[in-house]
Amino acid sequence: MSELNATAELLELEKRGLQELQALTDEPALRAWHTKYFGDKGEMAGALRKVGTLPPTERKGYGQEANRIKQVLTDAYDQALAKAKENALLASLSESPLDVSLPGRPTRHGRVHIATRIMREIYGIFSDMGFQIHRTREVEDDLNNFEYLNMPPHHPARDMWDTFHTTTPGVLLRTHTSPGQIHVMREFCPQPIRAVLPGMCYRYEAITTRSEIQFQQVEGLVIGPNVTMADLKGTITAFARRLFGQERQIRIRSSYFPFTEPSIEVDIDWPKEDPNADRLTKGTGWLEIMGAGMVHPTVLRNGGYDPDQVSGFAFGMGPQRITMLKYAIDDIREFWKNDLRFLQQF
Ligand code: PHE
Repeated sequence: MSELNATAELLELEKRGLQELQALTDEPALRAWHTKYFGDKGEMAGALRKVGTLPPTERKGYGQEANRIKQVLTDAYDQALAKAKENALLASLSESPLDVSLPGRPTRHGRVHIATRIMREIYGIFSDMGFQIHRTREVEDDLNNFEYLNMPPHHPARDMWDTFHTTTPGVLLRTHTSPGQIHVMREFCPQPIRAVLPGMCYRYEAITTRSEIQFQQVEGLVIGPNVTMADLKGTITAFARRLFGQERQIRIRSSYFPFTEPSIEVDIDWPKEDPNADRLTKGTGWLEIMGAGMVHPTVLRNGGYDPDQVSGFAFGMGPQRITMLKYAIDDIREFWKNDLRFLQQF
């Protein structure tokens, strides 16, 4: 074969390739074209193989021409492919209502419920002080909720806790976390105890802005040799300062609970500059955050301890109240309403 014929064939191939390419608009057809011309057994490969049939003097010119055509076809293919892709994208954009120029929607982040957060804060403070956390049951019996806590049937102090009774006699929803004291004492006696007992409590009361039928408490219990009122006072003061700030004043008033003797209630001062101070403290400047006292000897005995060998203190606080005070929340019903507008503030 002479170079002239061979080169004519090459030019023919170039023309054919470009013509065919022009007619193609979609990507699969373009790829098929590419295989036809540039595949292992494609037209270009065939044309290049012909170099071997040419006289040596003509090979160079033929080869150069073949390479030029290869480049021309490759460029044309790349352009056509890019164009096809762009057209496909434009088509899909105009087909679907997606507007990529719209600003994005912010994603909503989940968050920990304010009640859980306060509980964790309280656990953190007490675990720093060496307290362990114990959970005890919410469905209780009369024995643990009242009797072992020094309130025999018909004891007038039972009126302090309006109770949800179940249809099973003697089974009730706990009205406070104090029955946990008995469970923990019976589990760990005769070892010393330093524990907080958090959990939900239930009271059969009218629901108002200040009282709910369900709320959390955190009970504290410390038992050991020579535990005194000074330990109680120090523990509570340290706790209040950690939760409410170093400047906090603490006030202790005497009170009455059947299961502690002596019994106290603990107030903390509220900053006078807070515009809500008067309403929150009913004009006194002080807020009650818990009941507490030295564990009554009868209760120690009911837990298995010998009141002549050990003594103890206990306290019970209401985290919802503490949260209301801390954030000036004026309605306790917000806590379990699951209104995101309320919850997202924290
Ligand atoms: N259980 C008491 C209440 O619910 C609080 C309390 C706990 C008081 C421990 C003294 C000791 O009001």
